[in-house]
Amino acid sequence: MALMNGLKLVNNLSGLRQAILPAVSGSQQRRLKSWWGGVEMGPPDVILGVTEAFKRDTNPNKINLGVGAYRDANGKPYVLPVVRKAEDLMRSENLDKEYAGIIGVPEFCASSAKLAFGADSEVLQSGRNVTVQSISGTGALRIGAAFLSKFHGSKNVYLPTPTWGNHTPIFKHCLMDVKSYKYYDPTTCGLDFAGAMSDLKEIPEGSVVLLHACAHNPTGVDPSQEQWKEICQLIKSKNLFPFFDMAYQGFASGDLDKDSWAVRHFVSEGLNVALCQSYAKNMGLYGERVGAFSLVCADKDEAARVLSQIKILIRPMYSNPPVNGARIAGRVLGNPDLYAQWLVELKGMADRIIDMRTRLRDCLAKEGSSKNWQHITDQIGMFCFTGLTPEQVDKLTNDFSVYLTRDGRISMAGVYDDNVKYLANAMHQVSK
Ligand code: LMR
Repeated sequence: MALMNGLKLVNNLSGLRQAILPAVSGSQQRRLKSWWGGVEMGPPDVILGVTEAFKRDTNPNKINLGVGAYRDANGKPYVLPVVRKAEDLMRSENLDKEYAGIIGVPEFCASSAKLAFGADSEVLQSGRNVTVQSISGTGALRIGAAFLSKFHGSKNVYLPTPTWGNHTPIFKHCLMDVKSYKYYDPTTCGLDFAGAMSDLKEIPEGSVVLLHACAHNPTGVDPSQEQWKEICQLIKSKNLFPFFDMAYQGFASGDLDKDSWAVRHFVSEGLNVALCQSYAKNMGLYGERVGAFSLVCADKDEAARVLSQIKILIRPMYSNPPVNGARIAGRVLGNPDLYAQWLVELKGMADRIIDMRTRLRDCLAKEGSSKNWQHITDQIGMFCFTGLTPEQVDKLTNDFSVYLTRDGRISMAGVYDDNVKYLANAMHQVSK
């Protein structure tokens, strides 16, 4: 009976609507259906679009050196055994699926800050850091950019040239004014330290300077510790705000402490930095999307106020982050046995990449390439900035099915025993 009454009501309402609404013509209906007729086709993502193109290629020899994702010695995606162990542990704990708080899994956040700033860090001891879980490195950058946009005096953010393809859109989406400073010298395939210093000197006081903490993406070129000291002094004297992106801790040298040296040095010099961390690469947790954003504050009281505002920014973005990846990373970071195992596995990944750099250089020499490929072994981390031109990259892709970003960056993690010779031959053919 209640159902019948309900149906009658619906019929009456639609009759009423027909009576009071003006008739809609066919073309109007089509227009109504097509809200997005004016939306133009956008370009594919400069990095992730490469993977899409790779997947469409049917050549059995194809190689994907686009996205920075580690592959094992057989070219297969690699799940770290320590991650499997942490997952086994979690299964035995029979965990619930409740929401995390807005800032994520607290134990993970504490361990992540410790990993970045060091266990004996004064910042952690005095509780003047704010560290929140993020949707990997991108999410950390996004939280940081949103916070700066709302609370930092200057909207200027200076990015190194070149930088990771997603940095500019992230800051632009947060209405920051994106500018650049010199970083890479194409003539040496190394750091343009003089250029960077002279550009940094001109940056207006209070501006934000984005720094890659280690394993610069895309160039694989990092400042030496002496150069970092000079950069730090300059940033301090010009009262600029240092914003670190550390997506590759452990991947540059295989040593977690060494790779966070720059961050720790800035902090020891009294600079209150922002820091983005990712566990995509160093724990291989790509699809789990786990990272952290930290701000070092003047004191505990300031940290509490900043934290309250960061929560207000996160809540309308995604409410609270997913728990699974943070639980895994939290266990690896917090359990001494798992941590020790992780260090070995991380070093294994870093070493395999270093080995492949040598192999690629040797193979290019064997191919008879007269070009100087020294930078392949000089550069560090996951990427090699080959120096190949966009036209040579197009040829590599079209003629050899080798996929990479058009700036000539190759993910060394995608090079392995069975494809290194093919790659060297292809690189030689397009560059001779
Ligand atoms: C990369 O640079 O390839 C990685 O950081 C993956 C990404 O999201 O771009």
